Amino acid sequence: MPFIDRDQRGRLRINKKEVAYAIFKNYSHFLDRLNKNVLFHDMINRHSKNVTRFPNQYNARYEIYNYINDNIIQNRSIDYLEFGVFKSDSIKHWASINSHRESRFFGFDTFEGLPEGYGNRPKGTFDAHGDVPEVDDERVTWEKGLFQDVLPIFLADFQPKSRVVIHIDTDLYSSTLYCLTSMNNMLKPGSILIFDEFGDLEQEFAAFYDYTRSYYRNWELICAQHNLWLVAMQLQ
Ligand SMILES: C[S@@+](CC[C@H](N)C(=O)[O-])C[C@H]1O[C@@H](n2cnc3c(N)ncnc32)[C@H](O)[C@@H]1O
Repeated sequence: MPFIDRDQRGRLRINKKEVAYAIFKNYSHFLDRLNKNVLFHDMINRHSKNVTRFPNQYNARYEIYNYINDNIIQNRSIDYLEFGVFKSDSIKHWASINSHRESRFFGFDTFEGLPEGYGNRPKGTFDAHGDVPEVDDERVTWEKGLFQDVLPIFLADFQPKSRVVIHIDTDLYSSTLYCLTSMNNMLKPGSILIFDEFGDLEQEFAAFYDYTRSYYRNWELICAQHNLWLVAMQLQ
């Protein structure tokens, strides 16, 4: 395409896209992140009425899980679905703090690691050699396989019995977007979403942003680490 051509009325017109591409040929993650950073903070500000903040240290995740179970769920029964289980630290913690006998905990993972690279982590990072974790709690079950393969089969039979809590710890844009869009019909107002890597502007955040725009979902942040990396929100 030439840089300049004529429109339907014969007037000269600059092909802005062609000119821009001639000047700037390489995709810039930096520019992408800079723009998404604005979206991220605007979005957080618009959806944060009453947020409990937690320190940034690693173990804050367990404090956040405890806070949600004690204050929001109040130890009532839940249907907890975790996408990205690895060695099951989080899902086991959830099963230990939510003692309601009607709660159910579903852990989804290939147990063979990430299906694609994530930043400087190559495909296969978090490989548990295909072994499902051992667990001594019959409320916990594993759905082994690629989400894209096992979730449609799971959802064909699944009827939520309690408040749905989704924990997204997939790290990846593709996996996050797939899970959120697939789960959308199950996500009634009051459902809780937890993200482990929300601060990654090109991955979990970007997928959540695209999901909420595409499905017109509204939400409120309920608690978060100060750095907004691990966050929990309630859907409306
Ligand atoms: C960061 S780890 C999960 C850590 C875990 N939640 C914990 O508390 O320790 C990410 C996991 O997501 C899984 N994963 C990512 N995308 C997936 C997909 N599309 N299908 C199945 N598993 C996936 C990987 O196998 C990996 O075990």
